[in-house]
Amino acid sequence: MIIDSNIVSKLPSVGTTIFTKMSALAAEKGAINLSQGFPDFPPDARLLARASQALLTGNNQYSPMTGLPLLRDTVAGLIERHYDRKVSALDEITITSGASEAIFDAIAAIIHQGDEVILFDPAYDLYEPAVTLAGGVCKRVTLMAPDFRPDWHAFEKLLTDQTRLVLINTPHNPTGSCWTQQDLDCLWQAIESREIYVLSDEVYEFIYFGKSIVSVHKHAELAARSFVVSSFGKSFHLTGWKVGYVVAPPALTAELRKVHQFVTFCTATPLQQALAEHLRELPEESTALAAFYQRKRDVLRNALADSRFTLLPCEGTYFQLLDYSDISDLDDVAFCEWLIDEVGVAAIPISVFYQHPPENQRVIRLCFAKEESTLLDAAQRLSQL
Ligand SMILES: Cc1ncc(COP(=O)(O)O)c(C=O)c1O
Repeated sequence: MIIDSNIVSKLPSVGTTIFTKMSALAAEKGAINLSQGFPDFPPDARLLARASQALLTGNNQYSPMTGLPLLRDTVAGLIERHYDRKVSALDEITITSGASEAIFDAIAAIIHQGDEVILFDPAYDLYEPAVTLAGGVCKRVTLMAPDFRPDWHAFEKLLTDQTRLVLINTPHNPTGSCWTQQDLDCLWQAIESREIYVLSDEVYEFIYFGKSIVSVHKHAELAARSFVVSSFGKSFHLTGWKVGYVVAPPALTAELRKVHQFVTFCTATPLQQALAEHLRELPEESTALAAFYQRKRDVLRNALADSRFTLLPCEGTYFQLLDYSDISDLDDVAFCEWLIDEVGVAAIPISVFYQHPPENQRVIRLCFAKEESTLLDAAQRLSQL
């Protein structure tokens, strides 16, 4: 019996993501792909050797539901070293199948029917569908080019008795902006007297070009109400491994684990083993990441300095925004399609990260997690415009 025509979609407005679309177009037209956010260079060979070794030496069955103890202990050490925050590996750290699963689990665990969640637009595309599936409703603060700073008056106006969660992301995809300590203080002051939780997506935590990182881990009051999410995929150039983790106080962790145990139960055991051993042997590796990506950022920015694009500030992540107002009147989706066809470079239009894109904002996102030669080739093509 054919029943698919009667399906009432729970996510009627969700289609194929722009990342899939642009990557497919780039492949079809042979364009340089600076659209989707993943490295075009290999991870550390020692880590790959450890993963192979882990596969061959019997680490192939379910790990504990909460993650391998060795990896949770290692993450606890990482957080203490970087943020001077002590967390319990036993009941405050959970290993998940990427940051995506952690975000999904946290939202499913905390959001009840009709609860409101505040997001900052442009927002990563996973947030809203996860809230919708949990029965929640998204409210949005709009961040505007060129610096994308949060407007705390606009934020406070959105707070109601139904607000249950605030979803933040710093360093920020797609804008490359970073929150300040003052932003965290403003957030805390606004929610302190209400029963509101925070989900802090910090997957780019080590790709931060300022003097010192601003993180919920370093804000004790906020941390006591927050899920802080990170991803080994971003920090070790292995987005396909999908291994992430979430840190939250015991009561929040207990709720999150109720979801996690039925969504995936656990994450690939040999990959957890390899990451734990690698991090133990090279504990300072993550601190080198910012300089590694700053160099790539600067290669791209310098190569585009004389182009007709305006380079927006980039304080973190591996994304650089370009304003093309001096080049074209096309909207950003049409401009990205035109760029692939005419220039041979694939980028992402940032309007897709907004529910209501600001009018006349002509900005595209390039991913610079690429070999320098790829970045220089792309910049040369873009500079001809
Ligand atoms: C802001 C943000 N959050 C979460 C994720 C998902 O991370 P993971 O691949 O570890 O699931 C990404 C991936 O691009 C991201 O950019």
